[in-house]
Amino acid sequence: MKTIIEPFKIKSVEPINFNTPEERRQILKDAFYNLFLVKSDDVLIDLLTDSGTSAMSSDQWAGIMRGDESYAGSPSFFRFKDVIEDITGMPQVIPTHQGRAAEKILFSILGGKGKYFVSNTLFDTTRANIEFSGAEGVDLLCAEGKQPSVPAQFKGNLDVEALKRFIVEKGAANIPLCIITVTNNSGGGQPVSMQNIKDVRAVCTEYGIPMFIDACRFAENAYFIKLREAAYANTSVKAIAQEMFSYADGATMSAKKDAFANIGGFLAVRDGALAQECRNLLVITEGFPTYGGLAGRDLEAIAIGLQEVMEESYLQYRIRSIEYLTNKLIAAGVPVMQPAGGHAVYLDAKAFLPHIPPHEFPGQALAGALYEVGGVRGVEIGSLMFGKYDENGAPVAAALELVRLAIPRRVYTQSHIDYVSEVVIEVFENRNDICGLRIVEEAPLLRHFTAKLAPVR
Ligand code: F0G
Repeated sequence: MKTIIEPFKIKSVEPINFNTPEERRQILKDAFYNLFLVKSDDVLIDLLTDSGTSAMSSDQWAGIMRGDESYAGSPSFFRFKDVIEDITGMPQVIPTHQGRAAEKILFSILGGKGKYFVSNTLFDTTRANIEFSGAEGVDLLCAEGKQPSVPAQFKGNLDVEALKRFIVEKGAANIPLCIITVTNNSGGGQPVSMQNIKDVRAVCTEYGIPMFIDACRFAENAYFIKLREAAYANTSVKAIAQEMFSYADGATMSAKKDAFANIGGFLAVRDGALAQECRNLLVITEGFPTYGGLAGRDLEAIAIGLQEVMEESYLQYRIRSIEYLTNKLIAAGVPVMQPAGGHAVYLDAKAFLPHIPPHEFPGQALAGALYEVGGVRGVEIGSLMFGKYDENGAPVAAALELVRLAIPRRVYTQSHIDYVSEVVIEVFENRNDICGLRIVEEAPLLRHFTAKLAPVR
């Protein structure tokens, strides 16, 4: 069969509120052209994020009823720990309320002034937690990962030669960790190959630097390895995931992605002494070590979700549906990141709106247009999110200007996706009418969440 059907039936539905382009034009203006400031009831198709937006399964809901809310030693914690230990091989499992809480704990301990954390690409909260500790985050993405329109199999790979040069330049003692983000969210949801994970591991071992995995989308990454790395064609996704983690000393994960949970995360490590330090911080920030920042019911939902996400019928549907939207847009000439990533379609706003320079935020302008025309909410991943100012206050652009349309897991059907493609194509046909934006107000960290903008004309 050519059609990959959704491998689930729908038991419970949520209505969508419809509004008109005229109404949305006013809503967008009132929200200062920042889609984070738009109410979700005013959105038709919400592709802002795939984080915490999954539809849970009937098994997960059953697990929620089973959740044991004991303060200490809950059986829900042990189910959570056993599943994570089975996948990662890491015996020290620390529950947190979401991914960034795990990052905050880890970088509070390992960070500090004069230190460097190297990565293929750090996600924005990861980078912010590193910088908040006084340390610096350094992205060493492979060359092909920086070219949206050039297809390659593993565009999330870390540049191993650049890693070696960086270690020699800065000194291994100043690099507490190397972090591989799978899949590479900020770089287009592109996968990292098993070979690259092994190569990075070898360099880290040579210089005595621990390696961690940011595992938010580990199952999507494992499935890409199965599809694209010949040696793994007949290996189960679970065995691939286990091998990926076998090379790492630790992992952080937001369970809001590849665990189909609405909240949750964890930090897992091999080293008992580091785990003890982390738990000391956990108790004063998140909670007691057998629940962290979570309810027992959340621990159950995550434990079940982590197993469901490795089912290959699900991953086949997931990866194919992202590819389906990507290919429809490519066929219409829309510039998108190629090939399709694991959780989102990334529009290349620089090529989409060549008349808008980076300091006028082409990605943000495009995201606004998609909302106004079709009620589709995506997110800018470009100069609003990652841009900076130099010593003279002049804007420094991000490497890429993208708009991410992140697809929530198990939430939208093929007709929703067809509608999204129609909206993007209509905006593309009228792209010359879109104008740039300027910032009216901004915060010093993670400015994209709250910035207020206005059209330049
Ligand atoms: N690492 C990666 C690669 C992520 O994509 C995210 C979150 C985090 C860490 C932080 O996890 O949200 O649970 O604190 N990404 C979301 C997104 C927010 O929309 O891509 P969190």
